[in-house]
Amino acid sequence: MCVATGKRGTFITVEGGDGAGKSTVLARLYEELVRRGMDVLMTREPGGIDIAEQIREIILNPAHTQMDERTEALLYAASRRQHLAEKVLPALEAGRIVLCDRFIDSSLAYQGHARGLGIDAVYAINRFAVEDCMPDVTLLFDVTPEVGLARINATKNREVNRLDLEDLHFHERVREGYRLAMERDPERFVVIDAEQSPNEVYEAALAALLARL
Ligand code: TYD
Repeated sequence: MCVATGKRGTFITVEGGDGAGKSTVLARLYEELVRRGMDVLMTREPGGIDIAEQIREIILNPAHTQMDERTEALLYAASRRQHLAEKVLPALEAGRIVLCDRFIDSSLAYQGHARGLGIDAVYAINRFAVEDCMPDVTLLFDVTPEVGLARINATKNREVNRLDLEDLHFHERVREGYRLAMERDPERFVVIDAEQSPNEVYEAALAALLARL
């Protein structure tokens, strides 16, 4: 709850490793909630916010091979802050439902655990960035790295190679990181089995959301 800002809306975040299929499901969830007459903002970081977009460009620029991992974590947190301040908070203050693709838990799982910076350290800088504006509900799309990577590779149409095996280890760490993030704040999370068919995943996610809204 954003006590400091007196927010009235509901803040929902959707999280998961790569290949969990959350983006497709998120678009369907948005359409269904709107169809039911709810006032929903769907967004993702950096969400078209100019300052956040520019920070993201720095993070993702392939020429920045010298980027330190802590710098990367700080930049994600800075981009998150700007997107929150400019887009998410005004919507919550107006009483809207905000559906956000990735938020603080992505940093805990990817930077904190998978990259090894430590979940506590990454949590600390992110709490500075988001203050007390934590999500009300977080849907965690859980998929084994094997299935997630197979889905990604199926779209790339190529064989599994050595790099993919490194990927596998990284994705295992991401999944573990999400589990650890969830242990800090279990009431906030709903785990969705994302290995089901896309339709089953959607139905499970919708039921979980309707139960909380
Ligand atoms: P994104 O562009 O949101 O793609 P998708 O959600 O479709 O996977 O994210 C790109 C990558 O950025 C993804 O592998 C997760 C990573 N990421 C982090 O490492 N930390 C963060 O805080 C966020 C928001 C994303």
